[in-house]
Amino acid sequence: MEQPQQSAGPEEAGAEAGKPPLRVGMVGYAFMGAAHSQGWRTAGRVFDLPLRPVLTALCGRDAAAVRAAADRHGWATTETDWRALIARDDVDLVDICTPGDSHAEIALAALAAGKHVLCEKPLANTVEEAETMAHAAETAFTTRGRLAMVGFNYRRVPATALARRMVAEGRLGPLRHVRVTYLQDWLNDPEFPLTWRMRKELAGSGSLGDLGAHIVDLAQHLVGERLAGVSALTETFVRQRPLPGGPSSGLAGATGGAAHGTGTVTVDDAAVFTGRFTSGALASFEATRYATGRKNALRLELNGERGSLAFDLERLNELWFHDATEPAVHAGFRRILVTEPDHPYLDGWWPPGHGLGYEHTFVHQARDLVHAIAEGRVPEPSFAEGLQVQRVLAAVEESAEKNSVYTPIAD
Ligand SMILES: NC(=O)c1ccc[n+]([C@@H]2O[C@H](COP(=O)([O-])OP(=O)(O)OC[C@H]3O[C@@H](n4cnc5c(N)ncnc54)[C@H](O)[C@@H]3O)[C@@H](O)[C@H]2O)c1
Repeated sequence: MEQPQQSAGPEEAGAEAGKPPLRVGMVGYAFMGAAHSQGWRTAGRVFDLPLRPVLTALCGRDAAAVRAAADRHGWATTETDWRALIARDDVDLVDICTPGDSHAEIALAALAAGKHVLCEKPLANTVEEAETMAHAAETAFTTRGRLAMVGFNYRRVPATALARRMVAEGRLGPLRHVRVTYLQDWLNDPEFPLTWRMRKELAGSGSLGDLGAHIVDLAQHLVGERLAGVSALTETFVRQRPLPGGPSSGLAGATGGAAHGTGTVTVDDAAVFTGRFTSGALASFEATRYATGRKNALRLELNGERGSLAFDLERLNELWFHDATEPAVHAGFRRILVTEPDHPYLDGWWPPGHGLGYEHTFVHQARDLVHAIAEGRVPEPSFAEGLQVQRVLAAVEESAEKNSVYTPIAD
């Protein structure tokens, strides 16, 4: 086995001093790797955590590149094979930030080796993989107290967490409509290269699994119920794209030029679907990478008998609330600036009005997982919840293949 490359270990300082460590090993160091690093680095310095996250080992396949990423993001050592990372005795938790084709294999091996697991979304590329992972997570919990969580980080925007609280408190009354879109535009250029996100064998699906998974999870989380069935359309607008010239990262990529040729896109570019919640509320969903001008517009609106809530990720410190019980003469949507110390996650941050951003969702994710591990309770969203989202995605694909026929979600 290759020896881990060592550099100076992270200091035990400030708010974290004297706390038992939670030693993290992370696989993948590009977009989500950077975001998760930020979360692990920061959570214990902002929040009073029962355990001290330690950035113990970072894993990638290129030794020089992973060492550079470890230095940049604050990881003590590196590995070039995820199996070696999992074999280490000084790693308590494996954080999976790779494309979906490797989620199942890494998570199953990590759980079998007695590690806690945080796995990026979507949980897997198929329902079958997700079923195996959910089963392994349940066994790891019941036999060894090991925990597994999926990275649906948009539950952890303070404004969406407040929306969840308000729905649960009954501020909206019985829900009638759930309207959710997740709009990006980075694929609009037909010359954008065919990165892993456009290859089914690596990504599982396209906008559906990438963006649709987020909004299905968030909608079900906010409503506090599951979708019963869906009717869907999907489309691939650009079927041939230039092959990339090298490794891609996040939503960026460079073409290799004419010498590299083109390849076939094997996933959806956009998915549009309607759904019915078990209580009868009607839902609509739209996930696309072709909404020109929309960069990361996860927008939702909930309409209930007693009121409505609206949110837009591009203005993530705000939640809009209409109280339908007020006299019509002065009722209307009003803006809640979600930066008060009593708002979810805000107790550790800045004075009111000093807003948060995208990266803070990963700090909150690390915080919540550390608490769950210290308390020995299954974190949310669990692998079982990740599996259920996978079943919704599969029903969307099945419905789209059958010209939008209403497709119940399997239990
Ligand atoms: N929660 C969110 O908001 C969010 C946002 C973007 C991506 N994601 C998810 O995160 C995951 C990663 O996406 P990304 O945008 O970070 O991708 P990326 O292309 O930016 O990074 C992927 C990383 O995985 C590494 N990798 C791939 N296969 C590997 C292997 N077998 N062993 C070791 N390393 C390997 C690559 O070298 C790279 O470092 C995906 O599941 C994606 O759906 C989640």
